[in-house]
Amino acid sequence: MIDRTVSTVIDANKCTGCGLCVTVCPSGTLSLQGDKAVVSGDRSLSCGHCAAVCPADAITVHAVDPEASRYATFAADPSWLPPGEFNTTQLVRLMASRRSCRHFKNKPVERSTLEDLVKIGITAPSGTNNQLWSFTILPDRESVAAFGDQVALFFKHINKLAENGFLRHALRLIGKAELANYYRDYHQSVSEALTEREKNGRDRLFHGATAAIVAGSKPGGSTPKEDALLAVQNILLAAHSMGLGTCLIGFAAIPLKKDIRVKRFLGVPDNEHVHAVIALGYPDEPYLKVAGRKKIVSRYFTAAQTRNGK
Ligand SMILES: Cc1cc2nc3c(=O)[nH]c(=O)nc-3n(C[C@H](O)[C@H](O)[C@H](O)COP(=O)(O)O)c2cc1C
Ligand code: SF4
Repeated sequence: MIDRTVSTVIDANKCTGCGLCVTVCPSGTLSLQGDKAVVSGDRSLSCGHCAAVCPADAITVHAVDPEASRYATFAADPSWLPPGEFNTTQLVRLMASRRSCRHFKNKPVERSTLEDLVKIGITAPSGTNNQLWSFTILPDRESVAAFGDQVALFFKHINKLAENGFLRHALRLIGKAELANYYRDYHQSVSEALTEREKNGRDRLFHGATAAIVAGSKPGGSTPKEDALLAVQNILLAAHSMGLGTCLIGFAAIPLKKDIRVKRFLGVPDNEHVHAVIALGYPDEPYLKVAGRKKIVSRYFTAAQTRNGK
């Protein structure tokens, strides 16, 4: 359930009555009475916009935890960066330089770094500011490998099912083509990866990552998947800036979505959903330039077009 409790407190002695907090509040929680701002609404997004805009430092939103913005591995700058004041060239360079890493060094990632990454993740927006995301940290290679064992068991089972042509056909006849599609697209490569894993221990699932973060959602949010994935992209970019490589592992997310035993193995509560698994570690891949993307053509909608019947 989304918590809309009002936790905003205004210090009347500091308030100058400028009205800025009332203007930026998206939920009409605040109003001006005489020359002072007051809490007049009974619901709040706890977004903190009012406290961030107040020139008199008169507002505290108690639902906002100062610890969530305190980082162990770098000095944060809490001052607001106005639009247009960041270097776009550098931002795009960071974004385009993030690559899915498939060769990790056998070097552990510090827990403080992993915890900071989660905190950076949650600077993302979330529907109704619900912040009902959840994160499970696998802090070392041993834990990632133990999770890998569970994923391997899951896919062994799926491969066996998919090898049954009668079952594939019967499911397709009742409109369930998932297993047949899996057989067509993935059965062979998964089978090869499982064999390599058993024969020579090659980790084609996590690529030798020494840590992982599983991003999910608690029940009750309106946009759980979007919220989690927005946090994930923050983590990917921040990890790159910290010298870490990352790779989203869709193949590890599937068993967490489909088999409750795998979720329980990682200690993810039954009522949570998993949306992504991020493999992390120090990268062993030297690139010389960014990779680029396929051609993209956006379409336009303009009201003028509609008026002219075009
Ligand atoms: C949802 C999702 C799932 C992915 N799953 C895997 C995976 O299981 N294994 C893997 O090596 N890469 C995986 N990737 C990485 C993609 O292959 C990669 O993002 C794509 O090739 C583009 O390369 P780049 O990330 O380096 O820009 C996944 C990416 C996404 C977005
Ligand atoms: S922004 Fe601060 S000073 Fe201005 S009305 Fe709100 S509480 Fe008072």
